[in-house]
Amino acid sequence: MGLFNSDRGEFPREKPFQYMIPTTPILELGTILVTGASGYVGGRLVPILLDRGYKVRIMVRTPSACLAEKWPGVSCSAGDALHPKSLEKPLQGVYAAYYLIHSLALGPGQFDEADIRAALNFREAAAKAGVKRIIYLGGLGDLTPGLSDHLSSRIKVAQTLREGTVPVTVLRAAVIIGSGSASYEIIHSLVTRLRILPLPPSADQLCQPISIRDVLKYLIGVLETPETAGKSFDIGGSDVLTYRTMLKELAHLLNRKILMFGFPLNYIRPYAYIASLVTPVPAPIIRSLMEGLRNNVICRDVQIRTVIPVKPIGYREALIRAMDREEQDMVRTRWADAYPPAHELAMKLSEMPNLPRFTAEYSLKTKLSSAALFQSVCRIGGKEGWFQTNWMWRLRGFLDRMIGGVGIQRGRRSTTTLNIGDVIDFWRVEALVPDHRVLLRAEMLLPGRAWLEFNIDDLESHRILRIKAWFHTHSFFGKLYWYVLVPFHGIVFRDLIRGIEKAVGKT
Ligand SMILES: NC(=O)c1ccc[n+]([C@@H]2O[C@H](COP(=O)([O-])OP(=O)(O)OC[C@H]3O[C@@H](n4cnc5c(N)ncnc54)[C@H](OP(=O)(O)O)[C@@H]3O)[C@@H](O)[C@H]2O)c1
Repeated sequence: MGLFNSDRGEFPREKPFQYMIPTTPILELGTILVTGASGYVGGRLVPILLDRGYKVRIMVRTPSACLAEKWPGVSCSAGDALHPKSLEKPLQGVYAAYYLIHSLALGPGQFDEADIRAALNFREAAAKAGVKRIIYLGGLGDLTPGLSDHLSSRIKVAQTLREGTVPVTVLRAAVIIGSGSASYEIIHSLVTRLRILPLPPSADQLCQPISIRDVLKYLIGVLETPETAGKSFDIGGSDVLTYRTMLKELAHLLNRKILMFGFPLNYIRPYAYIASLVTPVPAPIIRSLMEGLRNNVICRDVQIRTVIPVKPIGYREALIRAMDREEQDMVRTRWADAYPPAHELAMKLSEMPNLPRFTAEYSLKTKLSSAALFQSVCRIGGKEGWFQTNWMWRLRGFLDRMIGGVGIQRGRRSTTTLNIGDVIDFWRVEALVPDHRVLLRAEMLLPGRAWLEFNIDDLESHRILRIKAWFHTHSFFGKLYWYVLVPFHGIVFRDLIRGIEKAVGKT
């Protein structure tokens, strides 16, 4: 049962999201460009613009067939904001461009310089292309000493964009709460996985979180309100709370008793590292976000509410909505879609000049249908796990996370469906042919490149289900790694293939 109907409170039946946006589409604007469309916010914005009838173009570093399939009608253009020349084509004939580019995933010490350079290139290219408006979603805060690198980079990006000739609308938000957002998943995991929670002194700073649905309403609202061009607005939910209260509120909602106590160590690195071991979000992102705890992030004014009459929801309601989306398996985008950064640029198995030398293959013969087997393959990982030898997968993931890798706890966006580009624990879906093939590319730290392939061959009287592990390396350590793992492959993959067969029909 969804949380909406539980004793936590019932929301009234709502009209479709589309009709909750208080402004009216202006279709004669022409082409709208969405950058960062593979990211958390951009991925949610595109379908709403399409539903409202806009002609939408997306700019991604590596266009893939799956994006075109996901959003029919969208034109997809390759562009990297760090390479000015590549921006010419995506910006051609564009009326307004959403600037949702962020390099946070590069980690502390690297994202700030990249973000400024990207903004500078973009503003120049937009001016040259005759773009009429840029809409940028950034962060709250003021450039004062002590402001975290993450927040100051968001503000410097706004300044850089505004120094150009194209009018920029800046929306400044604190933490975004929504299913699949990094902040929500960190808070949720801390509360559900820990019983004792030491908090840094900065946990008592104030924050004004906003739900993703309200962010989207404002993003669309400013596009459809021409007088917002060239202006900056703070956007926030209806509550101002400390981070400690945010954790407590969720614990209360979930009926979890947690001992929270202040710990007098204000050095964020150890907290971020420990948090990364128990949450799906890797340490570099947690660190950058936690450094933001040092500052109060609340709206300076609520002028936006008169310009775009949205009544933002509160923190509790945003949490309930996020949990409900998760329960209903309706999470549209996740922070992991854009992590590790530039994962789309990774070498594909089909692009390898020679197929990897190291392989291991296991198969079984079964009477089950291809469709049923494929559905079962599509459920592996995440909460479902990897069947009998789950502990081995978890141990591998834990070791990966310990050394700074993505780890197994990234989980997956949906428990039942898969798309190309989706994350499954420390894998990412590289290729997918319904009822026949799923190819996963490893994103854990490895002394080489690895893939895991599932194939279903339909042979009239029966089906053959195959698992093939591929490993490419030239290094001594790579070869050593492969040979050390060979005996474990036998156990793990045989169990997995039997587990997939057994899981057919189970929900
Ligand atoms: N999420 C939040 O909680 C939150 C809160 C407040 C404000 N915001 C703001 O909202 C905006 C969007 O955030 P988000 O959470 O959606 O970010 P995100 O999920 O991390 O996505 C970032 C996007 O930027 C793209 N990108 C990075 N470097 C690029 C480059 N050189 N050229 C072209 N594209 C590049 C990435 O594409 P690839 O897939 O190619 O890497 C990805 O699509 C940011 O400005 C952020 O500060 C977010």
